[in-house]
Formats: sequence, C-alpha cells, structure tokens
Amino acid sequence: MGKYVVTGSASGMGHAVAERLRGDGHTVIGVDQRDADVVTDLSTRVGRSTAVREILSVSDGRLDGAVFAAGVGAHRGKERLTVEVNVLGVTELMLALQPELAAAGNAKVVVFGSNSTTSTPFVPRAAIRRLVDGDTAGATKIVQRRGALSAPAAYAASKIAVSRWVRERAVTSQWAGSGIRVNLIAPGPVLTQLLRDQLASASGKQVRSYPVPVREYGTPEQLAEWVMTMLSPAADFMAGSVITVDGGTEALLRPTDW
Ligand code: NAI
Repeated sequence: MGKYVVTGSASGMGHAVAERLRGDGHTVIGVDQRDADVVTDLSTRVGRSTAVREILSVSDGRLDGAVFAAGVGAHRGKERLTVEVNVLGVTELMLALQPELAAAGNAKVVVFGSNSTTSTPFVPRAAIRRLVDGDTAGATKIVQRRGALSAPAAYAASKIAVSRWVRERAVTSQWAGSGIRVNLIAPGPVLTQLLRDQLASASGKQVRSYPVPVREYGTPEQLAEWVMTMLSPAADFMAGSVITVDGGTEALLRPTDW
C-alpha cells in the first residue's frame, strides 16, 4: 500500500480523494487549515514550510504520490490569498517533496487546475508571468487594477500560472525522467463549499449563468474517481497532461480549438 499527500483534504474534492485512497488501504497525509493530519495555512511562507517539515517527518523518505487540491475561489479583496494558495501552495510543496516522490520510482502527482483557465476572458498576461515566477505581490497589484473583475482575474491567473508551471516541469528529467508522473485535472463547476460560496456571493448570478451543457454540477466523488485513475498505473504513460472534466463547458466555448 502507498503513502500519499493530499492538500485540501478537509473538504470537497481533496476530501473525496483522501477518502478513496484510505478506502483502498493507502496511508494519507492530509494537509489543510483544519481537520487534517497537518494543520497549516498554505497562504503563508511559514505555513508552507511547516507543511513540508511535517510531511517529511512522517514520510520515511518516500512518497507514492501527492494530490494538490487545496484552493481558494474568486473573492473580491482576497486576491493575494487566492494566488498564494493556488500557486505557491502547489509549487513550493512540489519542489520540496520531489526527492521523496523520486524515491518511490513511479510516483504520481495530480494538481488541481480549472477549466476557468480557458473560459475566463482578458486575464492579464503580466500577472500570469509574475505568478509563474512566484511573484505573488506583483501579480496581485496587476489584477487589482481590474476593479470589479479583480477576483475572477486573480483566480484564473492563478490557475493558468500553476498549470503552465506544472506542464513545463512535468516533462523534465527532474520529474518524468525521475519516474514521477505529474498531471493536471481541470474541473468545471463541482458542488463543493468553494462553489457554494461563489453561488452565495455578490457574483452568484454570474456564476449561475455559466453554461454547463450536461445541465448539472459535478460531484466531488466523480472528480475523485478521475484522480484515482491519474494516480494508478494507467497514468504511467501520462506526463504534463490536462484532463478536463467539466460537463462540456470547454467544448461549448471553444469548439474549434482542435
Ligand atoms: P473546497 O473549498 O471544498 O476545498 C478546498 C480545501 O482547501 C478546503 O478544505 C480548505 O480548507 C483548503 N484550503 C483553502 N485555503 C487553504 C489554506 N490557506 N491553507 C490550507 N488549506 C486551505 O474546494 P474544492 O471545490 O474541493 O476545490 C478543490 C480544488 O479544485 C481547488 O484547487 C479549486 O480551485 C479547484 N476547482 C474547484 C472547482 C469547483 O467548482 N468546486 C472548479 C475548478 C477547480
């Protein structure tokens, strides 16, 4: 049986993945700001260092996989928090855990992106560039110039940046070449606390009008099932892929992109 890190394990899709892994007999090191094996705040450098230190103290030098599901949605006034968790909460932990993942020989990493990467218009390129370089303060200043649209811009920029960062590294000798398969899942609207908060927010009407061709929201369990496949030997021939599971929104909005 394997040993897996799951961030965002207290709620939604991270919780569903942790449950599936535990149900299959694996050991899960859950990381979250509450109700987790490692309770820490991934929006701060200190909190991320604590996460790494505590994970390493129980990993025995080897990890079979990691799932980065901790994330913050689009909230006006919380742009900096969003980009810290959604970008550095992945990149800093991934880099720090690379030796333990490499030690397993065939580890799998799944990072939660989003289909907002392709469905959000006018995301400032300069903010994305800064986030890819880890400059969360600079990126926040840029998205805040968007005024009323600063929150969705911060969210989409964070997910585009983390997707780019992950894809660039996934195919290098440090990752694919070290036996570690790193891939992204890009959900559409999935009924979790994150989506409930968005539906209840001032932009709830806009969120409700988001087109989903299958006419229902996804469930955390459906997405967890895809993640389980991406953690299985079925993913041995996958590196840097983005698996979109979104009820058809991307195909609806970008039918001619292929
Ligand atoms: P959720 O809100 O149910 O779970 C997110 C978890 O992340 C929570 O347990 C929360 O405590 C944790 N978290 C947030 N900030 C943290 C911090 N500073 N430190 C430590 N933990 C923190 O959300 P959901 O929907 O399960 O989201 C999982 C991932 O999927 C996120 O990365 C999200 O951006 C992404 N996603 C979600 C979509 C949706 O419609 N629900 C759509 C597309 C992507």
